[in-house]
Amino acid sequence: MKIERIRLIPVMIPRRTGIDNRHVIVRLDAAGDWTGWGEMSDLSHLPLYQMDLANLEGALNDLLVGMDARVIGPVEALMERAYTVEGHKYSRSGLVRQGIDLALHDLQARRAGIPLHVLLGGALRDRFKVCYPIFRMRSQAEIAPNLERIAEMARRGFDLIRVYVGANVEEDLRFLEAFGERFGDSIGIKSIDFSNLLDWRRSLAATERYAELADWMLIESPAPEEDYGGLAEFRRRSRWPVSEHVNHLWHGWQLLHGGCVDILNVSPYVLGGLRPCLRAIALAEAAHASVLIGTTQELNLGTAGVTHLGAVARVLDYPADNTGPELYTADVVREPLRYEGGHLLVPDGAGLGVEVDETLLNERRTGLASTFGTDLVGMLDRTSASERGDNLS
Ligand code: LMR
Ligand code: MG
Repeated sequence: MKIERIRLIPVMIPRRTGIDNRHVIVRLDAAGDWTGWGEMSDLSHLPLYQMDLANLEGALNDLLVGMDARVIGPVEALMERAYTVEGHKYSRSGLVRQGIDLALHDLQARRAGIPLHVLLGGALRDRFKVCYPIFRMRSQAEIAPNLERIAEMARRGFDLIRVYVGANVEEDLRFLEAFGERFGDSIGIKSIDFSNLLDWRRSLAATERYAELADWMLIESPAPEEDYGGLAEFRRRSRWPVSEHVNHLWHGWQLLHGGCVDILNVSPYVLGGLRPCLRAIALAEAAHASVLIGTTQELNLGTAGVTHLGAVARVLDYPADNTGPELYTADVVREPLRYEGGHLLVPDGAGLGVEVDETLLNERRTGLASTFGTDLVGMLDRTSASERGDNLS
């Protein structure tokens, strides 16, 4: 089953939080009229440049056309040579590899007429718990809309959030206090996420103050990126488990070997698809560490990939972050993935289990220019300048 053609379709989808995000949908055609779909999820992050999609599409076709679509391992090895690990959570090369990896998995499972989780060895669970993100607040103006968002998500069955913190500790405290007063114990907090903004001692000091107002399951990224020593210092003093994104397999090993984390945050968008994620999960298993599945906020195709990963993961101890389909206001698939009682349900259709609607895809088709412009705070925090009150003098 030879790969015949790869097409890259950029789309723009608005979020409920008032920002727009760019993604690239990948269409991979193979001999016998088989098609697999993948996604390069969420290109709206720093660094502030985009891929040249015409060039990328040409290169992917030059590299992969004529290869056997069934042998994902050799394709992956070639892709890793051409799109080298860049060691960064928002590296473009990981997204390129993810797009091809997902499309090949989708194609192969479709051809076999089975859900992807069966191809991956079989589901160990039919759903897993997820949490909804509350993005980092820098001004008081952002607190009320976030509380409304939580109330709205609660009406739709979500009872767990995660909160990005650390840019303005006083606003974080105001938010946590208002959150506690309004929701009591009805909504839980999975994590507070420092996103590598602060050194470990500042994160610890902030954590001690937050803890007077709220509780949570774990703490994410409380030291600068690659500060293994700092992360380990934080962890030694923390009564909550500590989690960090795995940027590549060696990074995951460093995090575990250095005693830096209790939990590996594993994501196909960073690691480059499902295969490297399964290896990272095996690494955690070998170290008796825990796993959670992270997100960049994928659309339905990308989230479906994660859903099959979560279904087959031998280690999965904490709620996952994958609520992209609930965060975006539109998508390119016919039927979105289903959430029930704050759980993401594992789909049972063939392949990824979601069907691309080409009319919707064409409607959402766009260029790749960033909608954030040069709003660096917005790009970092995923917030809109108007909600932050930046336009109010
Ligand atoms: C998002 O796009 O909302 C996430 O990738 C944010 C983040 O930095 O984790
Ligand atoms: Mg993202």
